[in-house]
Amino acid sequence: MRDRFELTLRDGTPVIVRPLIDEDRPAVAEAYRRLSPEGRYQRFWTPIGELLGGAMLDRLIEQNPTKHVTWVVLDPARDFPGVGGASWWRNAANPAEAEISAMVLDADQHRGIGTLLLAVMWLTALRAGVEQLVAYMLQDNRRAAKWVQDCGAIGEWDGYKLVFRWDLHDLDILPATPAAADLASWLAELSPRILGDQETVAS
Ligand SMILES: CC(C)(COP(=O)(O)OP(=O)(O)OC[C@H]1O[C@@H](n2cnc3c(N)ncnc32)[C@H](O)[C@@H]1OP(=O)(O)O)[C@@H](O)C(=O)NCCC(=O)NCCS
Repeated sequence: MRDRFELTLRDGTPVIVRPLIDEDRPAVAEAYRRLSPEGRYQRFWTPIGELLGGAMLDRLIEQNPTKHVTWVVLDPARDFPGVGGASWWRNAANPAEAEISAMVLDADQHRGIGTLLLAVMWLTALRAGVEQLVAYMLQDNRRAAKWVQDCGAIGEWDGYKLVFRWDLHDLDILPATPAAADLASWLAELSPRILGDQETVAS
């Protein structure tokens, strides 16, 4: 099974979806530079500047299929192909759970890229034996909060941040929204390719 997929976004754009590799280091640094300050803050929770620190780059790029993955969506027709990426990190104290984060370049948001990345995170986490994905969000990140809820996550306020959860084995939680329909469709398409003979997820 090879983790590199040629897929088509709903507007017809062909994209490549694959794990981040060490050679991507300069491109990740450049993608970070291209983010809006607001996007950087929503993803990294700190008003850091235009450059991504080496430690954070290492944290994104160093992968272990059972502990942490980062995948990217690339539009090969562009001079700068990277349009978005997502990661999950397994909770060492509770291995049934992994924390997900996602980032799509501002100009490419609302094209279904985040939902595609969520499906890839869902299936790679299931492949690793993770049962729940959890996403943490700042209170004012309404757009992302609406998106994850539209994609079936159950949320709560813990007094400091919003906490959203998906039970990866339970597709009945998916609501009747366009985003959840997209998610279910990507899960059905990618499930045999990522999970292989393991449990399949059907829409
Ligand atoms: C949150 C984020 C990753 C979402 O990525 P995205 O590529 O814009 O997500 P999608 O396009 O798949 O879905 C988002 C929107 O499309 C809608 N959508 C998805 N599929 C759809 C479809 N088939 N038809 C119509 N609308 C659809 C969703 O409901 C959502 O709508 P909204 O923007 O009105 O709320 C992106 O906004 C981002 O990078 N934000 C900054 C970083 C951040 O907040 N990260 C935290 C997430 S853990």
